[in-house]
Amino acid sequence: MRTIAILNQKGGVGKTTTAVNVAAALADAGRRVVVIDLDPQAHLTIHLGVEPQTISAGAYDVLTQSADFAAGLILVRPNLWLLAANIDLVGAETELVNVVGREIILREAMQASRDAYDFCLIDCPPSLSVLSLNALAASQEVLIPLQPHFLALQGFGKLLQTIDLVNKRINPHLKVTGVLLCMNDTRASLSNEVRADIDSFLQSARGTNSAWSGAEILPTFIRRNIKLAEAPSYGQTIFEYDPTCNGAEDYRKVARFLLGIDATAAPEPAAVAAPAEPVPPAPVVEAARVVAPSEPAPAAATVEAQSDNPAPVVAVEPQTDTPAPPQVDEPALRSPPAAPAEPPGDHPAPPATPPIPIITVDLPAPCSHRPVSGTPEHASPAPENTAPIENPPAC
Ligand SMILES: Nc1ncnc2c1ncn2[C@@H]1O[C@H](COP(=O)(O)OP(=O)(O)OP(=O)(O)O)[C@@H](O)[C@H]1O
Ligand SMILES: [Mg+2]
Repeated sequence: MRTIAILNQKGGVGKTTTAVNVAAALADAGRRVVVIDLDPQAHLTIHLGVEPQTISAGAYDVLTQSADFAAGLILVRPNLWLLAANIDLVGAETELVNVVGREIILREAMQASRDAYDFCLIDCPPSLSVLSLNALAASQEVLIPLQPHFLALQGFGKLLQTIDLVNKRINPHLKVTGVLLCMNDTRASLSNEVRADIDSFLQSARGTNSAWSGAEILPTFIRRNIKLAEAPSYGQTIFEYDPTCNGAEDYRKVARFLLGIDATAAPEPAAVAAPAEPVPPAPVVEAARVVAPSEPAPAAATVEAQSDNPAPVVAVEPQTDTPAPPQVDEPALRSPPAAPAEPPGDHPAPPATPPIPIITVDLPAPCSHRPVSGTPEHASPAPENTAPIENPPAC
């Protein structure tokens, strides 16, 4: 099983949207996929149409009550299983504070299920807490969704440091696969500047022993697309809500990247769809209730994003004889502020002389989709997500 933590301690960058839709695309392609909701906000659980209050055994129970991992999985779609979350998970941090080996509980719980599935995607909370550390300890890869604007780079260095420490102390298999640009707007010059900054930083780590020495900005990115923001309230993936919109197209490309398929090539559904082995029997969780499409999902549990969480519970290790990774210097990563390429969309206009010239181009990108009743239509086409796939990783 290829386990990928979807992590960025910054809130609202697209982690959950990525976890849901990449998992759904992989499941559609015939892979057996587990998604784990490690966020007390339970957005992933809600997005997949499951009521958090109805969970009998979820991520909290696995982490704190030694509940069986496989028994907690809910079959939510063909080929797609969910280890759900609810607000109880917020207590896991304090409950585990005196538990020896608290960072590896999830990894050990998953051990017996590793051969039963092809992929496991872990949706992390917006913090570098013990929950995120459990995700990192259980994964071989980290995918970092990132919104390419100036403030998005704050904390990026801290994130890479944490991943590197986990790699050195807890999980030597852990590597950063790459950065996925979400809500990207190629019309904004700042997006391109931030992209160039991250790219040159990642390039500078090549040949070092850091966990991100092989990381890249994914050659495909996620355009801003209002359909991606609408789908969660119907408990649907983007492929159920609007399979032809830009968001669906972009997330299919990410799945194809992870599968090592050239995203520019024509889809090969037959070749991709056949599962290698029979699908294991679906565990049935009767309490889970799928939200009807006409019924918007309930409001998320009110747990604040903790982007300024204290340092993780891992300690720095001395460097080995391999070249040292570049110093993570956040200011050096920051792009100089640039003038906005376009006026903001639905945000209020900024003051005449803002203290920090943050660029937020928030125009919902239109999509070339079939109309969905009750959803807004847009007139002009969005920029094409045409970045070529280069060097896709071996699957
Ligand atoms: N490409 C996109 N275009 C438009 N809206 C998007 C896009 N991706 C995500 N969104 C919306 O942006 C908001 C934040 O996305 P999401 O919940 O995936 O972020 P997150 O990183 O998981 O947040 P948190 O840190 O709170 O868990 C959501 O309302 C989501 O529907
Ligand atoms: Mg989330």
